[in-house]
Amino acid sequence: MSKADLFLEKKRRGEKLVVVTAYDAPTARIEAEAGVDIILVGDSVGVNILGYAHERDVTLADMAHHIAAVRRGAPDIYIIGDLPYATYDTPEVALGSARVLRDAGADCVKFEGAQPDVVAALTAAGVDVCGHLGLESQHQETKRRQGKTAEAAARLYDDALAGDAAGQKFLVLELVPQELAAKITRAVTAVTIGIGAGRETDGQVLVVNDLTGVTTRAFKHNRRYGEVGAALRAAVAAYAQDVRAGSFPGPEHAFHMAEEERAALEQWLRERS
Ligand code: KIV
Repeated sequence: MSKADLFLEKKRRGEKLVVVTAYDAPTARIEAEAGVDIILVGDSVGVNILGYAHERDVTLADMAHHIAAVRRGAPDIYIIGDLPYATYDTPEVALGSARVLRDAGADCVKFEGAQPDVVAALTAAGVDVCGHLGLESQHQETKRRQGKTAEAAARLYDDALAGDAAGQKFLVLELVPQELAAKITRAVTAVTIGIGAGRETDGQVLVVNDLTGVTTRAFKHNRRYGEVGAALRAAVAAYAQDVRAGSFPGPEHAFHMAEEERAALEQWLRERS
């Protein structure tokens, strides 16, 4: 049974899947220790880590770099890696891009939008695929809820079924109504992973910066489980204060030369002057 099939088995058993983003080795290690099922190295790395203005600025090299770091931090975790903007326009281009991410350590590649021909080509080449429908940050200018009208919802539903027929193993549903996400989840074989898609998807994903409080912006779909940003700021401010006050480093942070080495150094300095 492949790793992805284990998650399909969990779906059949009704077990919820825990997915979270990571972009670096220590965070990946901590997440693996915390027991997440899957790490998503999303193109959200661009705005959350790299200081880019838009997900569209993320390159394939950026993704490979961060996937490799996550793989080093969590050698055994299942990693989904995002194909960046314009790296999956045709099945041939997508295959080349997917190989780069696979070589970096991804188990599965995710891309936004409905392109069943790309899903089919990747699947035929033995690449696990995760679809991504609803909000497509790479393709939509504003981050708005999707699938609100019956017509828009029906289109997303059909897109989900087409990706399923083409063989995708996972499907991220972002910012779509709970009712629609539930119907898609029941209709597809793929494991659905929701973000802002209600509680009836097979799994949930959050951006690690949002759930830990590195990002302080409030998103309706997010629950903040920590105040890491505030803790980091307080720690660095306390360090700065101690350095300026001369109270760091303390005697316990320094080490000393052996007496004969110190004497020899002083002798050498005297002879030099
Ligand atoms: O890039 C990302 O982190 C994502 C999630 C928002 C699902 O695609």
